[in-house]
Amino acid sequence: MKRLNVAVIFGGRSGEHEVSLVSARSIIAALDPKRFRAVPMAILRTGRWIGGSAAKRYLKGSSASGVKGSRLPDFNGVDVVFPIVHGTFGEDGTLQGLLEMAGVPYVGCGVAGSAIGMDKDIQKRLLAAAGIPVSDGVTVRKGWSPRVYAAAIRGVGLPAFIKPARSGSSVGVSKVKHPREFAPALRAAFRYDDKVLIEKAMPKAREIECSFLGHHLAPMTSGLGEIVPSGEFYDFNAKYVDGRSAAIIPAGLPKKLVGELRAAAEHACAVLDVEGLARVDFLLERGTRRWVLNEINTLPGFTSISMYPKLWAQEGMSYRQLITNLITLALGRQQARNDLATDFSSNSDWYKQA
Ligand SMILES: Nc1ncnc2c1ncn2[C@@H]1O[C@H](COP(=O)(O)OP(=O)(O)O)[C@@H](O)[C@H]1O
Ligand SMILES: [Mg+2]
Repeated sequence: MKRLNVAVIFGGRSGEHEVSLVSARSIIAALDPKRFRAVPMAILRTGRWIGGSAAKRYLKGSSASGVKGSRLPDFNGVDVVFPIVHGTFGEDGTLQGLLEMAGVPYVGCGVAGSAIGMDKDIQKRLLAAAGIPVSDGVTVRKGWSPRVYAAAIRGVGLPAFIKPARSGSSVGVSKVKHPREFAPALRAAFRYDDKVLIEKAMPKAREIECSFLGHHLAPMTSGLGEIVPSGEFYDFNAKYVDGRSAAIIPAGLPKKLVGELRAAAEHACAVLDVEGLARVDFLLERGTRRWVLNEINTLPGFTSISMYPKLWAQEGMSYRQLITNLITLALGRQQARNDLATDFSSNSDWYKQA
């Protein structure tokens, strides 16, 4: 069998550039060598692309200063793409759009699902419409009058979470416990997005996560994991810096609740047009069974020790097998898409009369 060339695209223009490099190294090291050949492709912080040996060197840690790169990538010889670019211009549908235009199959969510997965505001509205519980809150826009912001926070109440609608890694996220903390929290969030969520904080929240793999006809959900953040909430420091947050797999939860959350994760992916892979994150009120779906991540951290693959490992699916499954899904989707009609011919010649 011919080995497939798998372009692993990493880097990108978001704050999660480094996280992406770590994920890409893990994926390349784990690709099944009997079936796949890795073709590293980097998106520099400037947004420029590099491939070939330059991308390999960059992945190994050499600096890219002075490297110009090209404005668009070259997918010649690429059989399938594994994009592992987190955040803006990576998991928000823009890269997926480029790949659609180029006609190359790619791992993960499509354009719409990626864009919805990135936007906490749109995501919550769709989930709520489908009857899936989400945190109460309001969305505000940059440039509105301070009186409107004040009314919004009064409506939501304290403590509240303020977060950019389209961000990740807890960048720009604050917990507001006192009215005087509100204005700085709002400013911090508006640095990253002109759309910001003000959400009622769930008291004593437990953070429960579920992995999704597949698509609406063949959905798979994993058992659940729990994150125990080192600080008051799972902020950037607790995620990446202090190394003191813990992942507990499986999360110690009653069987019925596990079933309920897994069903909600599957339902949410269908509702949001999310396919391929996603990590679905819940907040569960400690000591009760009350939960909300906090957010969906369509390109979750993907090193072999990240929650997403670890939840699959718990189900007996190795990291290598998971990667093979994701690539197989990508090829299957392309096949299904190729079978759809894209032309429409009509016998009438109405257009000639225009
Ligand atoms: N409504 C909420 N109630 C309690 N904790 C929250 C709430 N919203 C966010 N958090 C805390 O903030 C963290 C980051 O928020 P999240 O919405 O997941 O943004 P990100 O996309 O940056 O991960 C969560 O993991 C959780 O610890
Ligand atoms: Mg989160």
